[in-house]
Amino acid sequence: MFKYLFIIPLLFNTLFALSNESKVCQKCHPIIYDEYYGSSHRKASVYNNPLHKAYWDKHPKDEKGYTCAKCHTPTDKKSVETGVLTDNTIQREEPISCVFCHTIKEVDEGEMSNTNISSTEKRDFFTAEKSKRGSHTASFKTKSSWFGLVKTTQSSPYHKIDYNNENYYNGNVCMGCHSHTNNEHGFDTVMLDAMIDKDDKNSCISCHMPQVLGSKVTLNDSKTHAYHGIAGIYNRTREMGKYVDFKVAQNSKSFNVSVINQSNHALFGQAFREGVLIATITRGSKTIELPAFSFTRILGDEGKEAMPWKATETLKDTLIYAKKEIPFNISLQKGDRLTLTLGVKLVTKKGEKALGLKNDPEMRKFRVLKVEHFEF
Ligand code: HEC
Ligand code: HEC
Ligand code: HEC
Ligand code: HEC
Ligand code: HEC
Repeated sequence: MFKYLFIIPLLFNTLFALSNESKVCQKCHPIIYDEYYGSSHRKASVYNNPLHKAYWDKHPKDEKGYTCAKCHTPTDKKSVETGVLTDNTIQREEPISCVFCHTIKEVDEGEMSNTNISSTEKRDFFTAEKSKRGSHTASFKTKSSWFGLVKTTQSSPYHKIDYNNENYYNGNVCMGCHSHTNNEHGFDTVMLDAMIDKDDKNSCISCHMPQVLGSKVTLNDSKTHAYHGIAGIYNRTREMGKYVDFKVAQNSKSFNVSVINQSNHALFGQAFREGVLIATITRGSKTIELPAFSFTRILGDEGKEAMPWKATETLKDTLIYAKKEIPFNISLQKGDRLTLTLGVKLVTKKGEKALGLKNDPEMRKFRVLKVEHFEF
């Protein structure tokens, strides 16, 4: 017991000397930190994401400055307040930090976009843990037994935890940034169409932050923790395929593929994003490649294609909402094997050109979500 009391102040002194606050969390939550470091949320800034940089470079600049900060780099409070963008440690290491997410108290709904309201309590973090719902840990406790030979720790020595914020159970904690992002003409350029319903089987969190192996903290041993790398386009893409179903319906001269979306938002809604469905038929020794189908949204103004910040209308929308049927003009024969592959590309060909991203192979890389075979 005495030994512990000496170690803790020492440990904290070294922790505070670290360059950023998320690094403090790394000391006791190393697995979660590593995942976070590879996540879209850690890479949300101009300095870490070439797509974001290209988009911001082309974006018109006015006296409001870098308005993206509200969602992309909220931990850099100065950039949020002044609109001035500077290359600094927060922008690079924790634009959306551990503390930022874990102190979102509530979400204010707004017409142009929603707003995160942070709690003012320093080091009192919200989280979701069903077994502890209704409780609030106050302080660090150690229990010794067998004359100090066996020591177990309860709760965190560094912070308090509040298990009572409903937003962390239903996914609403994500909606300060992920609900809608309107441009100046009131037009939503992300259009996830995300809706949280209390009857939903899954939430933003259960699908995008699934429980994976590894302890959530070094001091205790939990089997699993919530994946902080964020499953999606960049990470664990293949695993997201289980939330999409294919159904094939045959006619005499053609067949239809239905793509059924189990999530509570449109798929591939981000401006310039492209989903792709590839269908191939193996017939005897022949392989028939059918024309690929593209799921995307073309934004426009006065009937002509326009950059997202100028858009006032949608010229074409082939996104997957609850379900999308795609017709193929060929009949299936007995013995055919149909292979369906659904994937996503960061940007469309046009988007790549419009944003000047031509030389980056990552932008048009085909990231596979799901492959399924059908025998006839
Ligand atoms: C000195 C070690 C230590 C540091 C530093 C630390 N934590 Fe923790 N944290 C813990 C411990 C121990 C628990 C486990 C509490 C329990 O199981 O009751 C915990 C639990 C949590 C939980 C809730 C987990 C759950 O499901 O019960 C969250 C959220 C959390 N920490 C966030 C953070 C963040 C964010 C930081 C950085 C600002 C941080 N922690 C820094 C030790 C630490
Ligand atoms: C209201 C919050 C909000 C604001 C303000 C905002 N964004 Fe975003 N942005 C998001 C969210 C949420 C995503 C992730 C959505 C997705 O992947 O579909 C995103 C994704 C993006 C992406 C795709 C990144 C990738 O790697 O796929 C780009 C590019 C982007 N935003 C550019 C900008 C720029 C430039 C600004 C400022 C002019 C801006 N955003 C303002 C919330 C916002
Ligand atoms: C502070 C704003 C903010 C909050 C809160 C937030 N996000 Fe994000 N999220 C973003 C931004 C901005 C991006 C795009 C990052 C980029 O430009 O690379 C993003 C990207 C994503 C992506 C796309 C990653 C990919 O690889 O496809 C997913 C999925 C996601 N967030 C899920 C969540 C979930 C789930 C929550 C709630 C637990 C959440 N986000 C909370 C701002 C936020
Ligand atoms: C985009 C927002 C977001 C960011 C950034 C974020 N967290 Fe979390 N974190 C969450 C949510 C939401 C949960 C609840 C997960 C659940 O319900 O399973 C969570 C859960 C946790 C838990 C409990 C794990 C579990 O399995 O329940 C710990 C510990 C934790 N976070 C620590 C951290 C640390 C450390 C960082 C930074 C390295 C961090 N978080 C960054 C949103 C975030
Ligand atoms: C049933 C599982 C499921 C639920 C619930 C869910 N998603 Fe998704 N989400 C997906 C799938 C599948 C994709 C498509 C795969 C991909 O693009 O990574 C996706 C894609 C995304 C993307 C990337 C979109 C793009 O094209 O840029 C973001 C951002 C996102 N989801 C955020 C959220 C948020 C926020 C919520 C809660 C409102 C949520 N998701 C709820 C399964 C889910």
